[in-house]
Amino acid sequence: MKTSTVFESKDDWTFLNISTQDYTHGFHLYPARMHPEIAKRIITKYAQDTKKVVFDPFMGSGGVLVEGILHGNNSIGIDVNPFAVLLSKVKTTPLNSEKLNKIYEEIIGKSKRDNTIKHYHEETKPTSNSLKLDFWYKPNVIKKLQILKYHIFNIEDKKVRDFFKVCFSLTSRKASYQRNSIYKIYRINKEDMQRFNLDVFEIFENVCKKNIKKMVDFTKAMKSSKAKAFSILGDTRKIEEAFQKVDSDILVQSNIDEMISVFSKRSDITIFNAPPLLTNAATSYIFKRLKSPLIMVIKLSKITRDQLKLAKQMLEDLKIRYEIVVV
Ligand SMILES: C[S@@+](CC[C@H](N)C(=O)[O-])C[C@H]1O[C@@H](n2cnc3c(N)ncnc32)[C@H](O)[C@@H]1O
Repeated sequence: MKTSTVFESKDDWTFLNISTQDYTHGFHLYPARMHPEIAKRIITKYAQDTKKVVFDPFMGSGGVLVEGILHGNNSIGIDVNPFAVLLSKVKTTPLNSEKLNKIYEEIIGKSKRDNTIKHYHEETKPTSNSLKLDFWYKPNVIKKLQILKYHIFNIEDKKVRDFFKVCFSLTSRKASYQRNSIYKIYRINKEDMQRFNLDVFEIFENVCKKNIKKMVDFTKAMKSSKAKAFSILGDTRKIEEAFQKVDSDILVQSNIDEMISVFSKRSDITIFNAPPLLTNAATSYIFKRLKSPLIMVIKLSKITRDQLKLAKQMLEDLKIRYEIVVV
């Protein structure tokens, strides 16, 4: 194994004509997502042996894990954001589409009935004023969201419930006064608010149908893969704690031998979005604790020569074997 390389790729890493929404990648928005094709290309090149475990210490929406298990590699991710963990879990958990369609019909049927009889399930309304619901939603939108939330949160099967929670999250964003063209939290203008007339149940239907179709594509693509993904809620700066938490969660949930074999190795290849994180505290912390023989640091946007030099220096001081792909 070489000690260090900076790999200045001559290949095209822009992937202009490749969708970022295929399979479960397109389930939900997430800021600063990695292009799935970047993860795919790196996994294909550096984790060709499917026994290698792929690791993303700043997992976000879980795109690296999706590509990891599609390729056939067990994959692990950590994130401090509970929504990232929910989303990543849902994106990497194959589910039966007939079951999803059936539950969807039940949710929408009961919700329309409740709306007709004005049973708005006030108990599901968030109590915290900090959410400023009236600022973001029309009153009738809030009522319909309350009804949907009630029926989704009462689904018995946790995996199915989580799938619809993600659909609900996207629905609640699309049904709000949020501008679609921008990720930042920013309301549409007053005239547009007055014209705003989208139906919550219709939005929910479109989101669910789209995500169920994506789940079918993902499940088909996963057919040959027995790989599993583990999305961990935790702080990467306390990586051992995070792993221990998972070890114990997994012991009650799954096949112990399989899990032990995954976690005894922990990870072989680490992939994450680099620039904003390249020199921050969490990154240096993880560098010190990683057992991976190889780290892939990916440059996605502008990085100065000085930042790159600093990062290389840090890796060399820590005697970490690494490659940096400059894309
Ligand atoms: C740029 S996003 C990653 C996006 C991801 N590659 C994707 O494709 O969706 C960075 C992520 O790092 C997470 N993060 C930041 N500091 C962290 C820490 N100390 N431990 C774990 N996760 C952290 C954030 O919550 C965020 O989801």
